[in-house]
Amino acid sequence: MTGRIAIVTGASRGIGRAIAEQLAGAGATVVCVARGENAAATAAAIVAAGGQAEARGLDVTDAAGVDALVADVLARHGRIDILVNNAGVTRDQLMLRMKRADWDDVLQTNLTAAFTLSQAVLKPMIRQRSGRIIAISSVVGQMGNAGQANYAASKAGLIGFCKALAREVASRNVTVNVVAPGLVETDMTKAITENAKADWSSQIPLGRMGTPADIAAAVRFLASDEASYITGQVLAVNGGMYM
Ligand SMILES: NC(=O)c1ccc[n+]([C@@H]2O[C@H](COP(=O)([O-])OP(=O)(O)OC[C@H]3O[C@@H](n4cnc5c(N)ncnc54)[C@H](OP(=O)(O)O)[C@@H]3O)[C@@H](O)[C@H]2O)c1
Repeated sequence: MTGRIAIVTGASRGIGRAIAEQLAGAGATVVCVARGENAAATAAAIVAAGGQAEARGLDVTDAAGVDALVADVLARHGRIDILVNNAGVTRDQLMLRMKRADWDDVLQTNLTAAFTLSQAVLKPMIRQRSGRIIAISSVVGQMGNAGQANYAASKAGLIGFCKALAREVASRNVTVNVVAPGLVETDMTKAITENAKADWSSQIPLGRMGTPADIAAAVRFLASDEASYITGQVLAVNGGMYM
């Protein structure tokens, strides 16, 4: 991926950090995005390991900020080859108690921001006649989960969004795919009790939670030349939890 420019949102930790590191390891220059200074450590670690990366502070729900980021990346690098819409949040609550704000926050961060970012990178990708857009959905978007109606809707929404966009831009050699992780060891799943984790793991044929690196490997593949004939697909990386 030498010479390719990648933007990875939610690159400060967890899955996004692993994606940034693996794309950089494959040779890409990675723009690591998170709020404030949060992505600085990821970019610094990549550079320390001999890769190319820079950190950008951005709240992905800030549409004007998204446009400014994309304009700045284009001004500095002249192209954008890969966008990974990874930033995501949960605001879990049973439906009867879910606040409208819990719904709006999750939809805005997980789904609307993917729309804004994808739209912003589309023009340069179409001009280049090449590009890769990859969204991080979830097994919850495929099978549902009690207490996560907002999150499940956002993650299922990403799948429909990516399939529609894949059809729109395929003729321009831009591919759009989804990676749907199962249960992965990150800050997001830290709050789950050991008992609940054991219960979940018993439903995973491969018998363990995933690692950020497991998910990043699938993203790296979809961003690579080897995946050039794959578009509109959902690659489930869930240990067999849902098949
Ligand atoms: N962990 C799992 O089991 C699992 C399973 C399926 C899917 N996923 C999905 O995988 C993705 C990464 O999850 P994770 O487990 O790595 O979560 P995480 O450790 O909680 O990290 C979330 C990332 O998203 C960023 N983010 C959140 N809101 C943002 C905003 N408004 N603007 C910019 N960045 C924002 C955070 O950056 P800040 O530093 O700015 O907070 C952080 O880098 C999410 O989309 C998640 O839904 C996770």
